[in-house]
Amino acid sequence: MASSACPTPLLLLLLLLPLAAAAASLPPLPLSTASRWVVGADGRRVKLACANWASHLEPVAAEGLSRRGLGDIAARVAAMGFNCVRLTWPTYLATNATLANLPLRWSLERLGMRESAAGVRVNNPGLLDLPLIDVFQEVVSALARNNIMVILDNQMTTPGWCCSTTDGNGFFGDKYFDPEEWLNGLKTMATMFRKTKNVVGVSLRNELRGPYENVSLWYRYMKEGAEAVHTANPDVLVILSGLEFDNTLNFVVPNQVHLSFTGKLVFEQHWYGFSDGGNWESQNQNDVCGMVVGFIKNKGLFLLQQGWPLFFSEFGFDMSGTHTGDNRYLTCFLSVAAEMDLDWAIWALQGSYYIREGTLAYDESYGLLSWDWCTARNPSFIKRINSLQSPFQGPGLPNSQEPYNVIFHPLYGLCVVVKSSEALELGPCDESNAWNYTSTHELVLQHTGQCLQAKSVGENAQLGTDCSKSSSKWQLISNSGMHISTELTKNGTRVCLDATPDGIITTNPCKCLTGDPNCNPESQWFKIILSSRHTGTSILQLPSDGPWSPTSSS
Ligand SMILES: *[C@@H]1O[C@H](CO)[C@@H](O)[C@H](O)[C@H]1NC(C)=O
Ligand SMILES: *[C@@H]1O[C@H](CO)[C@@H](O)[C@H](O)[C@H]1NC(C)=O
Ligand SMILES: *[C@@H]1O[C@H](CO)[C@@H](O)[C@H](O)[C@H]1NC(C)=O
Ligand SMILES: *[C@@H]1O[C@H](CO)[C@@H](O)[C@H](O)[C@H]1NC(C)=O
Repeated sequence: MASSACPTPLLLLLLLLPLAAAAASLPPLPLSTASRWVVGADGRRVKLACANWASHLEPVAAEGLSRRGLGDIAARVAAMGFNCVRLTWPTYLATNATLANLPLRWSLERLGMRESAAGVRVNNPGLLDLPLIDVFQEVVSALARNNIMVILDNQMTTPGWCCSTTDGNGFFGDKYFDPEEWLNGLKTMATMFRKTKNVVGVSLRNELRGPYENVSLWYRYMKEGAEAVHTANPDVLVILSGLEFDNTLNFVVPNQVHLSFTGKLVFEQHWYGFSDGGNWESQNQNDVCGMVVGFIKNKGLFLLQQGWPLFFSEFGFDMSGTHTGDNRYLTCFLSVAAEMDLDWAIWALQGSYYIREGTLAYDESYGLLSWDWCTARNPSFIKRINSLQSPFQGPGLPNSQEPYNVIFHPLYGLCVVVKSSEALELGPCDESNAWNYTSTHELVLQHTGQCLQAKSVGENAQLGTDCSKSSSKWQLISNSGMHISTELTKNGTRVCLDATPDGIITTNPCKCLTGDPNCNPESQWFKIILSSRHTGTSILQLPSDGPWSPTSSS
């Protein structure tokens, strides 16, 4: 484990993103809720596009401080297009003064991590001898300087990796989960950040779980926790986890969470591919996506449909791209994130941990950053997630206009745009290509009267004016609902929209509709979604060149 610096700045620019792309400004704060939306003080939608940053493991310090300067890390968060960090903390940081006052150096050295301490000396000398609670505050301040909002997440009581059913941290009454201590911890943290503008939310407890789970106690303690936080700090959103590792909120009747205040309550749900029972690798991908999304709706998405805010505060995947199940799950997740215009937080920012589950310098394969925190682990993902970092819908979007449809391609994170009437390609998801998927199944390009047509097998999809032809009638087929299909006028052959690796939209035989578990349909997965986005909406402009860009060769 070296405390060496990252590659030269020039190389960095090539490997990651220019820091110039930093988040513009914080939204008008405080945040509140308006039906299912999180909104700013001006009533406009604020979409939470967050990264989880762990600060709850044994050293009780934000990960990575031995690798890079704190300001650098915070700037990276902004440069990657995130507007928020879900920053985790263990209860003991707030309730054990001895721990809170331990200098970072000692916290690392007591765990035998001299190399990490040396790394902090090199990269963050000003933090080395600060008490852990001050280091935590410095992290929040560094994020504030980069206009990044912070959600404080009570991840565990005892410092350490989360979560198992037997770690004593699972539910009220567990070995290390005393409700009074928890309430005191929440009050302390909420009070500490009362005047800190960019702290916009507190998630009361991460991933409730284990043998002590109990719905009536959930209502009791969620109410007590929410009231404690709100009394200490009326500006923050209070965020409630579901049961079973926050995989389910199916037991929740929102109106039965009786609180003395309104406009601050948000639910949170987690969804990882590894929670879906291994189905991603063993069954047809359309079938799994359709089935799992059905489960996710019953477990939590129903809350959005009922007009309650729901924050997908953890999702994530193996960024190496070699994990088939994760890859499949991710594309399905992104289609839901686009369709429902979710607020979300990816697990995780950290490329590695000081120590995790006993392993020094543990490599986080789900990390946005590389093991050494120098580069993006998966630059193409940063591009892919970009169009989901700003809102499609919601109250008061700047220059908001009549809702229109965009045709989103979750594999590339881009939308179908017109290059010429003979060629469509993947490009920005904005109003420059506003479609209308009509009740008669035509895909009409607004203000032109032209509609999408299939010409032949293996050729470009095109625009035409005769929208009544059979080859202009598009059906959503397969159990994922993401194959957009029509029949050729000439001879009735069924084809599906497809995107080539170059981002050109063609029509090909529909693939992997059912059966074969090894067939990958993702080039043919499209989601027609509703949007009122206007390019005036602050969409981060990322460089469009680079090997990860599906349109780079056009
Ligand atoms: C508080 O934290 C210190 C330092 O980690 C530890 O030695 C001590 O046992 C803790 N006290 C309690 C009551 O948990
Ligand atoms: C849940 O907790 C309540 C209150 O302690 C208790 O009465 C009830 O029996 C518990 N329910 C279950 C299913 O354990
Ligand atoms: C599509 O067009 C119909 C008929 O003109 C209109 O009522 C509807 O609002 C449009 N929908 C979208 C999403 O543009
Ligand atoms: C229909 O036409 C396409 C070429 O446009 C051809 O590839 C396909 O085989 C034809 N199908 C039938 C059933 O004739």
